[in-house]
Amino acid sequence: MSRASLRNLVLGMISLVCVGFTAWVAYSLISQPELYRVPIGGPFALSDVDGRPVSEADFSGGYLLVYFGYTYCPDVCPTELATMSSALEALEEAGPAQAARLTPLFVTLDPARDSPAALRAYMAHFHPRFRALTGSDEQIAAMAESYRVIYRRVPTEDGQDYILDHTAYVFLIGPDGRYVTHFTPQEDAAAMSRRLTELIE
Ligand code: NI
Repeated sequence: MSRASLRNLVLGMISLVCVGFTAWVAYSLISQPELYRVPIGGPFALSDVDGRPVSEADFSGGYLLVYFGYTYCPDVCPTELATMSSALEALEEAGPAQAARLTPLFVTLDPARDSPAALRAYMAHFHPRFRALTGSDEQIAAMAESYRVIYRRVPTEDGQDYILDHTAYVFLIGPDGRYVTHFTPQEDAAAMSRRLTELIE
């Protein structure tokens, strides 16, 4: 065997091993999606409208329905908070024990304008069991990141003010603190309460 053909044989074997390894990795990822799925949710450190610290540990053993937004939001946030409120009311009718295990959270993405007093006044429009949470920019950014929530300021046309573009999913977190599912703004209160009935033990 010449040196050239020996080299080709070795290179061929190396590339076979590479192809095989790549195929094995691809197969592993497809057959075990938890290997690459990034967890949603997790620990957070915020405060409530009375300035008391609030973390995920305060809700351990219960379910959380988490929504991120801001009180100046012209349409999406009030609609979604009303949907969550109606879904919780429906759940209270259909499964009071399940409803009792669920706490709805509203996390402001705009702490500069959403003062505790503004949050308190705003939440009076929605279900009384809502807890409104705020914090420093860093605390809110950290929680938003762990929930894969994206938000950014967009100046209004006159340049005097801003709105926020933001993710508008509602997250259901289980008693172990892990993500269970999320709801999109396309789901109405009936759909949300139906799924909550199925998912909450
Ligand atoms: Ni909004």
